[in-house]
Amino acid sequence: MLNGKTIILGISGGIAAYKAATICSRLVSLGAEVHVMMTESAAKFITPLTLQTLSKNPVHIDTFEERNPEVVTHIDLADRADAILLAPATANVIAKLAHGLADDMLSTTMLAATCPIVIAPAMNVHMYEHPAVVHNIELLMQRGVQFIEPGTGQLACGYVAKGRLAEPEDIVATLDQWLNQPKLLAGKKVLVTAGGTIERLDPVRYLTNDSSGKMGFAVAQAAQEQGAEVTVIAGRTSAPAPQGVELVQVESAEDMLQAVLARFETSDIVIKSAAVADYRPKVIHNQKLKKTGSDELVLQLERTTDILETIGKRKSHQTVVGFAAETEQIDVYALDKLNRKNCDFIIANDVSTEGAGFNGDTNIISIYSKQGLVERLPLMSKLDAARRLLNIVAQHALEAKDDERDR
Ligand code: CTP
Repeated sequence: MLNGKTIILGISGGIAAYKAATICSRLVSLGAEVHVMMTESAAKFITPLTLQTLSKNPVHIDTFEERNPEVVTHIDLADRADAILLAPATANVIAKLAHGLADDMLSTTMLAATCPIVIAPAMNVHMYEHPAVVHNIELLMQRGVQFIEPGTGQLACGYVAKGRLAEPEDIVATLDQWLNQPKLLAGKKVLVTAGGTIERLDPVRYLTNDSSGKMGFAVAQAAQEQGAEVTVIAGRTSAPAPQGVELVQVESAEDMLQAVLARFETSDIVIKSAAVADYRPKVIHNQKLKKTGSDELVLQLERTTDILETIGKRKSHQTVVGFAAETEQIDVYALDKLNRKNCDFIIANDVSTEGAGFNGDTNIISIYSKQGLVERLPLMSKLDAARRLLNIVAQHALEAKDDERDR
């Protein structure tokens, strides 16, 4: 499947650089046109001549060594590439890409590229687990970069731990899969809500919740990876939105309701990951509330409109997905919510379990349809959980469309 694809193989300076020769050779044998870019440090571990011989193309290290006057090489290759595979990736090249630094051929080309980027890190375990590296990897994942986790084993530094470059065969297989995965949601419009709503009491005070928006953003990214045109309606969030989605910022449950309704008819799939306030202050004061002489202040709250229930009642062709944060009897409450709000799926998470729920980077979700439990996923990153969820929802949306056509 890699036959005829143009792949830039980026090699950075770690001991695993020697394994890049096997990766290069495998890519070439599968029919890919491979252009190797090395950092200067990588060239200390393996010679450019080895990679030139295997790839049958010149190896690039210096941005200013322009061999063809008709083109600017880093732009030309960035434009022509179907994918960039960075293997092995050191903490340094990952940091450079995360922060937009471009001081050599490889980093400059990566900034100029719009094609998919797949990164296989390899480094000492403490470097891999350093908060700065963890943060940079998260940042890049949010931008759609695909990571191939390093393996656990004997590291060159003497540790037996995580940090070994994944096996060259697995790296090439992941790249192949990534480039050739069917885009289930091509041409579909997906509407996602994310974050928590803000219900104002006065100009400086409000009621809100702990939602970070991470799950909603992960869902949006997963939908985008499947080729969908994605709109995210976001309340208060503390995480960055994925790139390439249309982002509509709202404040209250009422704002979110209006934003959802305005786009509902033209959406194919609606996924309500937002933590929407069930109640709001009955009176919103125009001026800052002053203290009174009393020791107590009683706030009167009133119900907000349930957005999920509203669209559940109106739905025609749309696949509607809701979320349920529960602490007990998950199955019972999730299915009750699904029926009450007329959803096609409810995604339940037990927020009392470590690793699930608000604010973290992981989640443990169970997916329910009208037929009952579809899948209970173990603890995994929110992005991986979102990808699994999107696969199921996309299949359902496509089958529903087929049924509609057959009728
Ligand atoms: N939701 C919504 N509008 C609201 C409240 C909730 O659209 N005003 C949606 C959420 O986005 C989520 C789902 O409803 O997809 C579940 O929210 P939850 O508050 O757990 O549902 P409730 O039915 O209110 O459940 P509970 O009785 O547990 O509060």
